[in-house]
Amino acid sequence: MAARVTAHRDYTIAKIDDRIYSGFLEHLGRAIYSGIYEPGHPTADAQGFRGDVAEVVKALQMPFVRYPGGNFVSSYNWEDGIGPREDRPTRLDLAWHTSESNEIGIHEFMDWCEIVDTKPMLALNLGSRGLDEARNFVEYVNGPTGAYWGDLRKKNGRAEPWNCRLWCLGNEMDGPWQIGQKTAHEYGRLSGEVAKALRAFDKSLELVVCGSSNPKMPTYPEWERIVLEHTYESVDYLSLHMYSQNKAKNTAEYLALSETLDRYIGTIQSVINVVKANKRSKHDVAICFDEWNVWYHSHEQDKAILQGMEGWPKAPRLLEDIYNFEDVLQVGLTLNTFIRRADVVKIACIAQIVNVIAPIMTEPGGPVWRQTTYWPFLLTSLYGRGTALRLAVASPTYDTETAGEVPYLDIAGVQDDAGRTITFFAVNRHPDRAITTAVSLEGFAAAKVVDHQVMTHPDLRAVNTMEQPDLIAPKPGTGAAVEGGILHLTLPPYSWQMIRVG
Ligand code: AHR
Repeated sequence: MAARVTAHRDYTIAKIDDRIYSGFLEHLGRAIYSGIYEPGHPTADAQGFRGDVAEVVKALQMPFVRYPGGNFVSSYNWEDGIGPREDRPTRLDLAWHTSESNEIGIHEFMDWCEIVDTKPMLALNLGSRGLDEARNFVEYVNGPTGAYWGDLRKKNGRAEPWNCRLWCLGNEMDGPWQIGQKTAHEYGRLSGEVAKALRAFDKSLELVVCGSSNPKMPTYPEWERIVLEHTYESVDYLSLHMYSQNKAKNTAEYLALSETLDRYIGTIQSVINVVKANKRSKHDVAICFDEWNVWYHSHEQDKAILQGMEGWPKAPRLLEDIYNFEDVLQVGLTLNTFIRRADVVKIACIAQIVNVIAPIMTEPGGPVWRQTTYWPFLLTSLYGRGTALRLAVASPTYDTETAGEVPYLDIAGVQDDAGRTITFFAVNRHPDRAITTAVSLEGFAAAKVVDHQVMTHPDLRAVNTMEQPDLIAPKPGTGAAVEGGILHLTLPPYSWQMIRVG
């Protein structure tokens, strides 16, 4: 099977915003407790943060980490997580039916951000709470001393404001599962007023308003239109979420989901444009895809806890999806989609980072290991920075229920800022045929392959485990070459690969 691709130096989509390689960390399951934080662990620092976990997180070079939820935030009192630890209350978390000790709060999270070299993107509770809590929290985090909240922060050990720029106005407010769910009009009014108050404090904050929880919501995409009608001029980003699943074990359909993701983004881009035109606005609103990943492997095992049959456990094993090789392809396809939508998707957060639907797993008192999906995220984050290329792709296709005709070859191209290297990320969706691919490199000086990493495995269900942590990992590719301005490469059946030429 053969495919042809043309990359031209002058045909570009947009500069990729590095923030599409951000992550999400929620007070959920073992993400925090025995995830990033485990006092007494052999690698723990003086504050109790696991050094082994910090190291593998840091390697991902996530520009931002969204915190503290998620559904958790919609009944969270941020004040519970400040002040002396011994005085912090244990609360029942209504979102995940667990106990929250509040050992980790905003101060500790900010310290951890420094350790892993990332920046915070903080979510506000617009579910059980509202404007007052939101403005107080923002002032606590960013306000000067000499006034109540800044002075309280100083008393709690931090005089300097943290100067957090990115704020989410609630989470998934359209969802019936959300504490404090609202109609689009209710949420639009509230978030518009919260945005006004926050801007009265600091005009330059970047604000994210909630879009639909996923494209299957009955209110999608009217929700986005109504919410933006209320908030367009006061917000910078519209938040979208999407999780992929393959419950039916139908790989062909599963791998077509990235096409629906692409259409989802396209539809919302159109809604944004309609509202912009209605308002005769000069302001731009971009997409913040602040939750995306594969999530379904753990659904069955989570039921007892989520239905309250196990009381209110502390840091139980929740949403611990164990990712297989097939999920490598899905994560690669999702990242390729964000690169190709670089003109409108400016922030994206893989949900989540540690233990909870995460590329990184830990064992209490034991090791950390990388799931299969760690690898496409790592390599795309490291090398998918620069300008997205508008590739012309001619690939054989197949028919799907999910998205109609889908190409076997999925490919994204990125030129680095120095103009020296072009990086391609490619997925072969075909189960048993390799794709012989010729990439015509037009207007580039690229002369040779400088790096080539391939992920493939005969068993789609193969996983990495604590005992066998490196079963699924990239391996150096072979046989690719640049000849006469054409990159020749072969994509094995069901494979993900990164190839860099320069
Ligand atoms: O990431 C897990 C959950 O998925 C988040 O808490 C919520 O926002 C979404 O439904």
